[in-house]
Amino acid sequence: MRLRDCHNFHDFRRLAQRRLPRPIFDYIDGAADDEVTYRRNTASFERCDLLPSVLRGVETVDMSVTVLGQKLAMPVYCSPTALQRLFHHDGERAVAAAAAKYGTMFGVSSLGTVSIEELRKAHDTPQVYQFYYHRDRGLNRAMMQRAREAGVEVMMLTVDSITGGNRERDLRTGFSIPFRLTPGGMLQFAIRPMWGINYLTHERFKLPQLDQHVDMSGGAVSIGRYFTEMLDPSMNWDDVAEMVRLWNGQFCLKGIMTVADAKRAVEIGCTGIVLSNHGGRQLDGSRAAFDQLAEIVDAVGDRIDVIMDGGIQRGTHVLKALSLGAKAVGVGRFYLYPLAAAGQAGVERALGLMRAEIERGMKLMGCTAIGQLSRENLRFR
Ligand code: LAC
Repeated sequence: MRLRDCHNFHDFRRLAQRRLPRPIFDYIDGAADDEVTYRRNTASFERCDLLPSVLRGVETVDMSVTVLGQKLAMPVYCSPTALQRLFHHDGERAVAAAAAKYGTMFGVSSLGTVSIEELRKAHDTPQVYQFYYHRDRGLNRAMMQRAREAGVEVMMLTVDSITGGNRERDLRTGFSIPFRLTPGGMLQFAIRPMWGINYLTHERFKLPQLDQHVDMSGGAVSIGRYFTEMLDPSMNWDDVAEMVRLWNGQFCLKGIMTVADAKRAVEIGCTGIVLSNHGGRQLDGSRAAFDQLAEIVDAVGDRIDVIMDGGIQRGTHVLKALSLGAKAVGVGRFYLYPLAAAGQAGVERALGLMRAEIERGMKLMGCTAIGQLSRENLRFR
């Protein structure tokens, strides 16, 4: 199977599975507990049907959107995800370049393996910085200052990860940062020698967002300690309100799922919220973002940009979310499998297929601009 044989999410997933050592594939592919929420994220789109309008003249389609103050050429952006260098030696460089080619936004994680500064210099397309909140308030301020100086457009604070989800696949393989593998996990690396050769013959694994601030010289110990000792589980709305004031720009909370929390995000001055259950990787049994979308858009959609992620595999999933009132949608695994399968060329192919699906879907729906999508186009079963 080669890249040109990949026509959809499932094809890329299969190719990634062939290329990656099992522990790394399972880190991407896995979710929390019984992975119920992970499965439901995609299934939720299937309970909603599209109603096309016909004979509308649809030669040219404009699929651009403005979200969080950024103009995107397509309504899908690459959500921040951690550790991309493990999936392909080009890591975030490949994802950012592909996002730039398609005129969309990309996210860089605090656990990213390429620096926010390098990526900001390399591309013009908007960049999101995914932020972790530290016990040391001075450190939070320093990291925000660094992001501001780098020219990052959007601050995105993840609020659904106050503690780690129960990822049982990772427990079985021994996946951790860096690896502390079980014997079975080690065997899986041995039978994927190309991955190992690529990993070892390219730039050393780094976490440049953190190692300028935190001593990472102790390797595994230091990173483990980073989570348990440095991140602040007492983070609350007052803390975030202060961050929003300090940032004084586009500020988005990722992981909002209730109307009450969406209203609080508006009150403290956030400019966006991402409805998300972290790809089912945190609280298993939590609702799909798509199922919460209408209620939250109705409550706050005129005051804040409502975005969603989780389970998006098709252009029609994007059209359904936008028809309900989302301003844009994020994808994670959708570009990570292609990254693992073929680096930048893989991510470009995935985004290209997504763009083609959205364009085709809009034509078949009788819409020439995103603003024409509405709930008139949807029926729930
Ligand atoms: C994860 C974290 C790092 O889902 O965002 O693995």
